[in-house]
Amino acid sequence: MLNNRNPVYREIDAACLPIEGRLPPGLQGTLYRNGPNPRAGEASQHWFLGQGMIHAISLGGGQATYRNRWVIPQENLTPQLGKANTHVIAHAGTLMALEEAHAPVLLGPDTLAFHGHGSMTGRFTAHPKHDPATGALVFFAYAAGGRHTRTIRCGSLDAHGHLAWETCFEAPFCSMVHDAAVTARHIALPVLPLAAAPALDEGDTLGFAWQPELGGHLAVLRRGAYGSEVRWHEAPPVHAFHIANAWEEHDRLFLDLFVYDVPPLFPTPGGVRVKAAPARPCRWSVALEGREPVRVEHLHDMAGEFPRIDDRHAGGSYDQIYYASRSGVEQVGFQAITRLDLSRGAIDQFDFGLAASVSEPVFVPRGDDAPIDDGWLMSTVWRPEWAGSKLVVFDAGHVADGPVAAVILPQRVPDGFHGSFVPDVFLDLEKSR
Ligand SMILES: [Fe+2]
Repeated sequence: MLNNRNPVYREIDAACLPIEGRLPPGLQGTLYRNGPNPRAGEASQHWFLGQGMIHAISLGGGQATYRNRWVIPQENLTPQLGKANTHVIAHAGTLMALEEAHAPVLLGPDTLAFHGHGSMTGRFTAHPKHDPATGALVFFAYAAGGRHTRTIRCGSLDAHGHLAWETCFEAPFCSMVHDAAVTARHIALPVLPLAAAPALDEGDTLGFAWQPELGGHLAVLRRGAYGSEVRWHEAPPVHAFHIANAWEEHDRLFLDLFVYDVPPLFPTPGGVRVKAAPARPCRWSVALEGREPVRVEHLHDMAGEFPRIDDRHAGGSYDQIYYASRSGVEQVGFQAITRLDLSRGAIDQFDFGLAASVSEPVFVPRGDDAPIDDGWLMSTVWRPEWAGSKLVVFDAGHVADGPVAAVILPQRVPDGFHGSFVPDVFLDLEKSR
């Protein structure tokens, strides 16, 4: 049966795409999205393991253009490059296709031309964080000493892409640390018991299993410090892939994250897969002095994933989370776009209906000087009766009103992971990569 996990095989360039509604005139730039897209004949037992493919949609002057490319051209494929399939961001004038077991793969923003790893080496993360005050990119890596090692690497690139800080420390065990919390002064990493299980089949599990007896831990390190200064706090034995935001207030560090009691897509060490309930938004906090356990606050019952915020305020106080959520508890994947207003505990949601497939919603401010959360949400959506996906644009403050515009794309955009909107950068379809 056709579903939106199936890959697409054509690399397409298309201009003058059909548009429903009216694109906001101020929305000028390119949305890049990344996700696993196995090549024909490429065995991929686990969703996380297909070769990355970028789908790029440029908006400007009321027009829309599209290009999709595998991140790594067929002729350049090597195991050392990894899959580059999880996120794509812009930093220091280049695009970085990101995946947590390898260095970033660099791409041309206007062509998607492949430029390899550049000067970067070692494992990285799919979720580095831009510091909006300095333009620095704070990164980390687990298993930084090699597969299944306990070493965690933290560091930062300056706004020009140069390494400005790097240090390492040892975790209690090798955990799949997918995301981190970054404030102006600290980085915090949840070391949760989705942990290395070397005996398991790598292809089916990535060599990780759910082992709650190992407990949960939160590492807090001052940015710029030596790894030996890390402080450990006891955390609940749960799992979270994604952190919406983090900030500091009254000498406490707060982080909002989407928590699973049991993580999906991974077995126990014995190979048994446990049915997982969807993730719910929670707030963790710790005192920046001392080693008290993590305090937990439940934020809302509306489950979901792929949280995004107004990134201009990353690392600071905020009150709106945008994420993908489900039409009903029996659904798989995500069918709805949700805004959670933390100041009121209220949900603003638009549901594309059963069998729809909705991506992470990316927030784009209405302009450089727009107030916090004044802007647009961009998501790719597909329904089985549609030949291709649509890029939908919502007014971020009025999600339930539905999209203000949609671009009809020339093919399906398969379920992917993450993406970025880069203002004032456009695809140049005259240049092939
Ligand atoms: Fe992620």
